[in-house]
Amino acid sequence: MIKWHIEKSPNEVAVKAAMIYRQQIMDKPQSVLGFATGSTPELFYRELIMLYQDRQLSFKECKSFNLDEYCGLNPSHRQSYHYYMEEKLFKHVDFDDGHIYLPHGNVDDYHRECKRYDALLIEHGPIDIQLLGIGRNGHIGFNEPNDVLIPSTHVVHLDDKTIKDNARFFSCEDLVPKSAITMGLKTIQQSNKILLLATGPEKAEILKALRSEKISTQLPASFLHLHADVTIICDESAAKHF
Ligand code: F6R
Repeated sequence: MIKWHIEKSPNEVAVKAAMIYRQQIMDKPQSVLGFATGSTPELFYRELIMLYQDRQLSFKECKSFNLDEYCGLNPSHRQSYHYYMEEKLFKHVDFDDGHIYLPHGNVDDYHRECKRYDALLIEHGPIDIQLLGIGRNGHIGFNEPNDVLIPSTHVVHLDDKTIKDNARFFSCEDLVPKSAITMGLKTIQQSNKILLLATGPEKAEILKALRSEKISTQLPASFLHLHADVTIICDESAAKHF
């Protein structure tokens, strides 16, 4: 059963999510933390940084794994997810650089990169808590709606809707990479706990569909219904159709 929490504002969503991560790290300082990018978790990362500055948590012994990365972007590219994580979280807190893992988007051999990432996940995993956002089309990570879904780390051709949605981060839509490397649903499902955040009225339709408890490859997030420990925290505007 997915546990749903509705908070008044995106800020309250972020505070609640940060408290869950804090508790996880207090319970297990060597936690393997799964992170996501995009607009939704930005306030959450700000909260984590504040807790760290207040000495309420430390990431010293934690490891981190990110869900995805655009194909073709160097870590120093301002729209890469490496850059995002460095700017939004890593450079502000005390993670050990050697404990930070993201898929690399700037490689010659994507097949080998997917295998490398899966091997790291097996070596260090399972992830104790995985943070997710959700696309307006129901994607988690970059597992896009399709007739079939791929369980392990793979390269995915991005949906037109995703490209349009993410164009806001680039100077024009043509510059949005057309493909990405993403953890598959199996790895996401193998996380001990999953925490999905959704804010804003643009997520209202897809959350309503997710509430219906039907599972379909056309709504990849619906596979979360099969997991034993999923919490979804959304704000009132994202929950307006409940
Ligand atoms: C990001 C990711 C995506 C986003 C989703 C929502 O690492 O995996 O699934 O979580 O596209 O993005 P925002 O938060 O920008 O609406």
